[in-house]
Amino acid sequence: MFTLENKIALVTGAGSGIGASIAELFAKVGARVFVTDVKEGSGRETVQRITEAGGRAEFAQLDIAEPSQCAAIAERVLADAGRLDILVNNAGIGHVGTLATTDVCDLDRVHAVNVRGTFLITKAFLPSMLARRSGVIVNLASICALIGVRDRLAYTITKHAIAGLTRAMALDHAREGIRVNAICPGRVETPWVQERLREYPDPKKAYEEMCATQPMGRMGRPEEIAAAALYLASDEASFLTGVMLTPDGGWSAG
Ligand SMILES: NC(=O)c1ccc[n+]([C@@H]2O[C@H](COP(=O)([O-])OP(=O)(O)OC[C@H]3O[C@@H](n4cnc5c(N)ncnc54)[C@H](O)[C@@H]3O)[C@@H](O)[C@H]2O)c1
Repeated sequence: MFTLENKIALVTGAGSGIGASIAELFAKVGARVFVTDVKEGSGRETVQRITEAGGRAEFAQLDIAEPSQCAAIAERVLADAGRLDILVNNAGIGHVGTLATTDVCDLDRVHAVNVRGTFLITKAFLPSMLARRSGVIVNLASICALIGVRDRLAYTITKHAIAGLTRAMALDHAREGIRVNAICPGRVETPWVQERLREYPDPKKAYEEMCATQPMGRMGRPEEIAAAALYLASDEASFLTGVMLTPDGGWSAG
């Protein structure tokens, strides 16, 4: 059984879906978790579920696209907990469109959160990790970091960038005690996907088509992605850096 006993972790976008599951699992196996999200209500609900289950968590509102908020949360966590052992860069937004239907403002908006935001929050915590020569970073990329997916141009660009960020950082800090890995899920049944489905004329048919894309014939569950995050964050993954762990029901094998 993997443990995060005595670890301090921070999860971005932890009010919903995969981020909430990661925060809950990390707390269950002993971590003290800073649950952060741009939305206050859902973030506080994650904290409530964790504390009701006997775990340790606290909420901090954080928009990763805002440099001043990234600096402030790093200051708060380091003042309060003394260090951050694990940073999970989960917050992200999607966009549906091809090059023809994506305008530059859409690209800028998705990039501002998925790439620039991940850069900013990681940069805020990196100096303290370097000073301690210890730290683990887990980035939520996507199957769209590894292959092209139709009608997801802006999103695919940003998730390929997360693969680049992960690999470049892994090399830069491999001898400085810092591991940087990414998770590349296929479709996972979260509020995000449920929202997308409502946009289709026939949501049930769209759901079945989405499931069929994955050789296992179903979507992933947030807990299945959280398990991958736990492995990467744990000391059992001590020789892993720069990897793209791909819980995708077999999608990328084809
Ligand atoms: N669901 C999937 O099928 C799937 C597949 C592959 C990768 N992913 C990735 O996993 C991550 C989580 O996805 P999900 O499906 O759980 O999404 P979700 O929409 O259910 O949750 C995302 C959370 O991020 C928060 N967020 C959005 N912008 C933010 C910002 N600027 N600062 C801080 N928080 C912000 C939202 O408030 C929300 O709580 C994303 O990075 C996504 O790209 C999801």
